Formats: sequence, C-alpha cells, structure tokens
Amino acid sequence: MNTLVVYESMFGSTRMIAEAVADALRSTGGVAVSTAAEAPVQLSGYDIVVIGAPTHAHTLPQPSSRQEAATWADDPTRGLMLEADALEPGIREWLERMTLAASEPRFAAFSTRADIPRIFAGDATAVIRRQLHRRDLVLDAHQDFLVDSSSHLLRGEQQRARDWALSLVPVASRRE
Ligand SMILES: Cc1cc2nc3c(=O)[nH]c(=O)nc-3n(C[C@H](O)[C@H](O)[C@H](O)COP(=O)(O)O)c2cc1C
Repeated sequence: MNTLVVYESMFGSTRMIAEAVADALRSTGGVAVSTAAEAPVQLSGYDIVVIGAPTHAHTLPQPSSRQEAATWADDPTRGLMLEADALEPGIREWLERMTLAASEPRFAAFSTRADIPRIFAGDATAVIRRQLHRRDLVLDAHQDFLVDSSSHLLRGEQQRARDWALSLVPVASRRE
C-alpha cells in the first residue's frame, strides 16, 4: 500500500497526528508525509491520500486565520511555537491545486479541533469532504482529534491516530 499523508499545522498538533498516522502505516508499504506547502500536487501512484488540517473558525485555515495563529504564538503566555510552514499555503490551497492521474487514490481526512461539542467546534474534515465532492471525489473515512484550550493535543490522541490509521488499510484496498 502506497500512502501520502499531507497536512498543515500551526503549532504542531496536526503534524504530530500526521506523523502518528504515517508511523502506523509504515508496516503496510511506502509512506510519504509532507506539509501541504511541500506536498506533490500530482497524485499518481498512491493507494490512499490522508489529508489533515486544524479547524479554524469552523473551517479550514485560510490566510487571515493563519495570521491570527501567528499572533497566538507571539504571546509568550500561550506557550505555542509556530511551525516552519505555518504561514505558507495549506490544505485549502493544496486541494485546489492537486490533480489526479488515471488511477484515483482513496481519500481519508482528519482534523484537529477543540475538545468541545462538535456543533460548537466545527470540523475541518467537513470542508475537505465538500472540496473533494466538487471534484467528483469521495472522502472514504474521516476522524477528528482533540486539543485542549491551549491547542496542545490531548493525551492518548496519537495512539488513537495510530489505531485510526490501521483502520484505513481495508479502505485503501477496496476497489469498486
Ligand atoms: C485562528 C484560530 C481559529 C480557531 N478556530 C477554531 C474553531 O473554530 N474550532 C475549534 O475547535 N478550534 C479552533 N481553533 C483551535 C485549533 O483547532 C487548534 O489550534 C489546532 O487544532 C491545533 O493544531 P495545530 O497545532 O496543528 O495548528 C482555532 C485556532 C486558531 C489559531
């Protein structure tokens, strides 16, 4: 199984989930993990593409919310470090640019979001699903992972991500 994990992350939580997903899938074959800024846009040869993003204002990050994240990181009381690619184009932009070769991969998506009821938090995977749908593509699996009020991952979420990743193996091999 050949996997691409593509993500964006402001403070590292989504990156840590992306890395946990990639680690879990290494035993199944080739795995590439990349920020959206550096990810390939031509998706040929992948059985499954796993897309991860933080939830910002109930949706996918955009330039204004990334800037707001940068101001959070500037505030020393928050204890947050901005990721190197945080202000670069992210998943929203990558989804617009990516192109498919003859064989379509399966798609899975995850978000990170606040540990509050989803109705108040929103969930970036809903937007990923809509963007794929616009291209006649289907999101086959999705999951959200939780951060605390300081945007740090809750304990146990990386293990939950590894378990979720392994649940994608039958999804990736399913062919219509
Ligand atoms: C500008 C901004 C807006 C946010 N809006 C939401 C939101 O609407 N719902 C939510 O659950 N979390 C929200 N958050 C919290 C993020 O989801 C959280 O910072 C993120 O999951 C941390 O992942 P990262 O370190 O990979 O960026 C917001 C964070 C920022 C910086």
